[in-house]
Amino acid sequence: MQVHFSKKRKLFRLDTEHISYLFRIGPSGELRHIWFGSRIDDDAIIEEFAVRRGTSSFSPHPEGLSPEDSLDLLPLEHSTYGAGDFRITASALRKENGTSVTSAVYRSHKIFKGKKKIPGLPSSFSQSKDSMTLEITMEDGFSGAEIILSYSVFADSDVIARSVRVSNPTETVIRVEKLLSAQLDFHSADFDVVYLKGMWAKERQAVRHPLIPGIQSFSSSRGATGHQYNPGIVFAEPSASEKAGDVYGMLLLYSGNYIAEAEVDQYRTLRALIGINPENFEWKLEPGETFYAPEALLFFSAEGLGGLSRISHRFLIDHVIRSPWVHRERPVLINNWEATYFNFDDKKILKIAEEASKLGIEMLVLDDGWFGERNDDRSSLGDWFVNRKKLGNLAALVRKINDLGMKFGLWFEPEMVSENSNLYRKHPDWVLCVPGGRRSIGRTQMVLDMSRRDVVDSLFRSISSVLHSANIEYMKWDMNRNLTEIHSRLLPPDRQKETAHRYVLGVYELHERLLKAFPNLLIESCSGGGGRFDAGMLHYAPQIWCSDNTDALERISIQLGTSLFYPSSSMGAHVSVCPNHQTHRTVPFSLRGHIALGGTFGYELDITRLTPDEKDLVRKQIRNYHHWNRIIREGEFHRLTEGFGRSDFAAWCWVSPDRREALAAAVRKTSEPCGINPPVHLRLRGLDPEMLYELDDHRRAHGRTLMNAGIRIPNAETDASSILIHLKAV
Ligand code: DGJ
Repeated sequence: MQVHFSKKRKLFRLDTEHISYLFRIGPSGELRHIWFGSRIDDDAIIEEFAVRRGTSSFSPHPEGLSPEDSLDLLPLEHSTYGAGDFRITASALRKENGTSVTSAVYRSHKIFKGKKKIPGLPSSFSQSKDSMTLEITMEDGFSGAEIILSYSVFADSDVIARSVRVSNPTETVIRVEKLLSAQLDFHSADFDVVYLKGMWAKERQAVRHPLIPGIQSFSSSRGATGHQYNPGIVFAEPSASEKAGDVYGMLLLYSGNYIAEAEVDQYRTLRALIGINPENFEWKLEPGETFYAPEALLFFSAEGLGGLSRISHRFLIDHVIRSPWVHRERPVLINNWEATYFNFDDKKILKIAEEASKLGIEMLVLDDGWFGERNDDRSSLGDWFVNRKKLGNLAALVRKINDLGMKFGLWFEPEMVSENSNLYRKHPDWVLCVPGGRRSIGRTQMVLDMSRRDVVDSLFRSISSVLHSANIEYMKWDMNRNLTEIHSRLLPPDRQKETAHRYVLGVYELHERLLKAFPNLLIESCSGGGGRFDAGMLHYAPQIWCSDNTDALERISIQLGTSLFYPSSSMGAHVSVCPNHQTHRTVPFSLRGHIALGGTFGYELDITRLTPDEKDLVRKQIRNYHHWNRIIREGEFHRLTEGFGRSDFAAWCWVSPDRREALAAAVRKTSEPCGINPPVHLRLRGLDPEMLYELDDHRRAHGRTLMNAGIRIPNAETDASSILIHLKAV
């Protein structure tokens, strides 16, 4: 890795093992983007990439310079509103005189070892010898504000981590109307865009289509990242496949309102931006203050979508997820939600734990309904004390579960409050709402104003007192509705547009404080399933419940879509009962195990009601989990079929870091008459071509054969047939 500045050519250059990133200072102080992609040796020959010709008077240029210096034309590192660039822009700063016209002119830079934390926000980390940072200070010529761009590279990753902050060294107030974290200007727009769309119970379905002229954006204004889109975007050359082709990605480390935008402009070039959604956002910067935008990661792979995913997985595991659990085998858990919903007491929970422990399950997670007077979803959120009528003494129950050799985990929904709760009766002013105005209700609950310090303090006290009261080793942090009437009673009128971002900062702060008090706590994040599945949450919680949809067939496209950016070890996945509670579909128990194995693995059913055959399968699945979890957690993930699991046949595999072991899974969703499904020769990936592998049925073949010719997958005789193939070097 290296970061270099050529004074003579005013050129910045960042390199990692396989990628290079270059830009230079232009005549009006603008930063002109030259190159991001595969590693290159010579920079002089590509310097002219930052020159574009063919402008018109409708693309104006800075006074005193030539038409070719038009900011509307050039590939830039950071574009600003209103000063000659008519494309989508990265920043707009409003001054006391009311203007939002902004410029960004190079003033100075520094290059240093290591990487700074971003105050209050999640960010990637590394040892100081393993990363380098370039910080460039630009000045808004219309206000004197400093826009500081930060670029970090890492010794072991082909990733550029970018962030931006604005400081106000002036004597007057500056308002940040828009500050996007990263901009990528491409020299052409000949790309497919790939992104993740969805809804509750159908999250992160990967979509791919060619870019078309104009602006395409996806975003959230829900106060959380949401089930609908994910804060990441990929641009793939049209011929790129899972295994080959140039592919670029941008991923935001943020859990609130975001936007990812792409504009194909009049000159048929592409500008991409990612960051906080500027809609209804504004931040007041008093003299001397700084506003920090979240970090964005830039990925490039010449090895197709699969290559990009592997870069992202590795980076998130090594540099973003900070939990000590990230490299540990997670306990196989049983969650009582789909087994009991609200209808349980301590005896039922203990019965589930007893049966589960006999089968090898290692942790019981008590879900919603253990606190306050909560027997349905209409009350008690916020009352984080044990419902003794239902559960007796929690510490005693946990001791009994621990005596069975099992750990214990507990569900919370910290950010919410029910109208029917002691907390709301005491603090009705703690919810987000417009005083005197109508409120929107979701699941009969309201959203606490996490931008308030007193709210965060109170939650920290009540949650940590429960966590202290018993041996609770895991916490499921849920969030079951989005933010509406985003108005904080504590903020003055001219700061109301800060509320949504301050809310996210409050959520992060509560995570920070809980993890400081309970450093080994395993947090599983959740938002009605995967409604807040993002790299910001992963900084605190090494796993996120992927979806409330536990149907194994549906989970294929959910989990493969999620794998566009996120590693298998971050995806909460459980074996649940059939007929499935969301789709009413029945699929084999073995398939349910195969799919859950592709995530953190656990059970979510009434284990006391399983048949003896199913119990045998549970024992077998748990044995397999222990055998293979290291490969799944630490290995390389390859999607072996195109289309992210949305077609009838889908397959994927993990290969251990030393390439001596691999595990593949293949699923056919529907069978056809007379067994005519065309035979599939499943070609594996990521193996060592020279190495001789043995399958579980003792057949042997070299990596080269297994990758070039493949393994015959038997024809499907029933719907929902699946197979696991395990290979070990001999
Ligand atoms: C939504 C979660 O996704 C479920 O797993 C469960 O915890 C419920 N909330 C409980 O209310």
